[in-house]
Amino acid sequence: MANVKVGLIGALDMLKFKNMKKVREAAIQKAPAEEIKGVWAINENAKALHPEFIEVVVKEVIDHKNASAKTFIFSKEDGSPLPYFRAGQYISLKLDINGTSTTRAYSISSSPKWALESKYAITVKDVKDGFVAPYILNNLKVGTKLVISAPLGEFYYQKYRDEKTLVCLAGGSGITPFLSMAYAVRDGIEDYNLVILSGSRNAESILFEKELADICKATSKVKVVHVLSDETKDGYEHGFITSDLIKKYAGDAYSIYICGPSAMYEFLSKELKKLDLPRRLVRSEAMGVTKEVEKESGYPKTCVGKTFTLTVIQGPKTYTVKASSNETILVALERAGIKAPSRCRSGECGWCRSRVTKGTFYISGTDSRRWSDVKWNEIHPCCTFATSDMTIEVAGEYFPKTK
Ligand code: FES
Repeated sequence: MANVKVGLIGALDMLKFKNMKKVREAAIQKAPAEEIKGVWAINENAKALHPEFIEVVVKEVIDHKNASAKTFIFSKEDGSPLPYFRAGQYISLKLDINGTSTTRAYSISSSPKWALESKYAITVKDVKDGFVAPYILNNLKVGTKLVISAPLGEFYYQKYRDEKTLVCLAGGSGITPFLSMAYAVRDGIEDYNLVILSGSRNAESILFEKELADICKATSKVKVVHVLSDETKDGYEHGFITSDLIKKYAGDAYSIYICGPSAMYEFLSKELKKLDLPRRLVRSEAMGVTKEVEKESGYPKTCVGKTFTLTVIQGPKTYTVKASSNETILVALERAGIKAPSRCRSGECGWCRSRVTKGTFYISGTDSRRWSDVKWNEIHPCCTFATSDMTIEVAGEYFPKTK
């Protein structure tokens, strides 16, 4: 045992600490059993920084016709500051689309500085045969009111984990969190170096080329390289983002940040193995759940093509919902008109947590549930698929009309 000398003051401190539980219990017993009235600065700050939802109005729409995308700038109606955030975080939009209550997460593309001026920007790219993106692009106009979450997510620089240079690998509209990071570095809010390798089909379809070029002129800490897969052009790299390209621009020590379509993740996972980086230095933005779960190696083949019955208990109500094997439980609930909670839709935030009381299921990708979730048979319906008939307890959620 270590020989530790404790002085008189130290001994008194330890005694005080040992008695603390008793002292607190006595204080609690002595206190009146009435609600404490009053406004506490700490609670007001917490409410302002972490509201459960925020009502905003669309102030401006910028059409990026070249990239089939639009940027939407939201503000609070009274112009008061929006919650501050770390560059790289996302917000989740609550939408009512012809009776279906759903959410979608979009990275904030503006500088954190804008939040203080009551502004967030997101950029939405069209998705062929999509459900939400076409709705947003066709229906959100200047003046539309909607409800969003506070900024969320862990996709941001952390001093004690990351190297001082971030190599950001972007595919198409996956550039948005990196644009926010670049603004944050330019504005002196974040202190690191950014090397952005931005993949596009051709020069014509590049998103935010001018904005990024302007940032590079304003600060030497941001470097941008455009990589064109379908076109060869002077001043641009040609092909895909590979390990060789990363080595060419990255320098000696760096963290990798990835945001783009799922095909890009698959391609990069092989390329990054060649770099042999520690796991902590590779960060990927969550981008939803696979649309082809039945192709995953762990998926039970006996369930392919089946439809299951979900008994959904939500407060005093019970619903019966059909869920096909290739749709998440969350999508099945939303399709049935149930207002279910969700934010990231990627199995990360835990907001959709629901309890299974009967039945079996398959979780796509990495099971990121807490130990206690597993113990109490709680699942994240956003990334979980039914593999039998099930009974689930689902929390309620507030969904206003998008006006
Ligand atoms: S919505 Fe985030 S874990 Fe399901």
